[in-house]
Amino acid sequence: MKMIESSRQVLVCQNRTCRKQNSAKVLAAFEKFSPSEVEVVASSCLGQCGNGPMVLVLPEEVWYNAVCPEEVAAITEQHLRGGKPVEKMLYRKFHRLSN
Ligand code: FES
Repeated sequence: MKMIESSRQVLVCQNRTCRKQNSAKVLAAFEKFSPSEVEVVASSCLGQCGNGPMVLVLPEEVWYNAVCPEEVAAITEQHLRGGKPVEKMLYRKFHRLSN
């Protein structure tokens, strides 16, 4: 079992359905672009199959869905480094539009 060393984690689902939707490349992009203090985790199913690739940022529980590898840099810059979730990319099932 992997020890959790940082308080911030990005879970990128690598289970079957998300893998079919290119989640391995999304994981690779997070590993490339994330700040070193953020732990990037290849997770098992996040329970949202078919809406993926699913990404969950902890501890704030911010969800992104249908993430493309090309979009990862925006999440790492604006959210992981800047502290502001990328509103337009949030998973609408769990995050309502603010207006
Ligand atoms: S396979 Fe990714 S959420 Fe279930």
